[in-house]
Amino acid sequence: MDRKQEAPSREGVAQLFDRIAPTYDLLNRLLSFRRDVAWRRRLVGRISAAQPLAHLDLATGTADVLIAARRGRPGIVRSVGVDLSEQMLAHGRLKVERLGLAQAIELQQGDATALTFSDASFDLATTAFGIRNVMDTPAALGEMLRVLKPDGQALILEFSLPRQRVVRGVYLFFFRHILPRLGGLVSGDRQAYGYLNQTVETYPYGAAFSRLLEDAGFVDVTCTPLTFGIASLYSGRKPC
Ligand SMILES: C[S@@+](CC[C@H](N)C(=O)[O-])C[C@H]1O[C@@H](n2cnc3c(N)ncnc32)[C@H](O)[C@@H]1O
Repeated sequence: MDRKQEAPSREGVAQLFDRIAPTYDLLNRLLSFRRDVAWRRRLVGRISAAQPLAHLDLATGTADVLIAARRGRPGIVRSVGVDLSEQMLAHGRLKVERLGLAQAIELQQGDATALTFSDASFDLATTAFGIRNVMDTPAALGEMLRVLKPDGQALILEFSLPRQRVVRGVYLFFFRHILPRLGGLVSGDRQAYGYLNQTVETYPYGAAFSRLLEDAGFVDVTCTPLTFGIASLYSGRKPC
């Protein structure tokens, strides 16, 4: 296994994603066998029926969640994405323009743990594969809750580990030995993919992550494992 890497600083995280931004989408599709697209679709399918909706996506990267939501869910009247990495956002802006969504989707540089939005400004707050990269999870969840309107919905997609022993063994082999090499080869940055994998193995998931949501003040918290538990979809609601 790759040597353990130190967690980078906030600036280090932004620089890491700046470096891998050009190949980020391609590698996501490749390394997950396109499951990432299906997982984001599952998230969109869980958006509550209430509309119109103002949607905030944290650690939005190249805006895939906002795009999937705009395509899959009518009634979204505002879509805002926030991310630390300017390069991830730059690639997101190009994609959004190419898809004719530039007027609909707003992408801003910012920190998920210190949002500039007023309290109760969004109906829906999401984040996909971003919460484990944010240095201070409780602070980011607290900000999510703050900017949601009462009864607003939070949906969080994150990697987790399969519970079934054999599946977990096969997955961890792929994850520890194949994935960082492939990621390094295509992105030219093996260190980045080594670090990103390491965070998946150490980050809380399932009941432990649900507890973090509850501790932040969310209610009706649920966790749905996806694809043998390789990813999990969490949902929570801001109390009225
Ligand atoms: C693995 S990418 C996920 C991107 C996207 N959500 C997706 O579904 O592919 C993680 C993102 O989190 C961003 N990030 C990390 N820490 C952050 C923070 N404190 N505030 C905002 N974005 C952050 C990184 O810049 C990166 O774009």
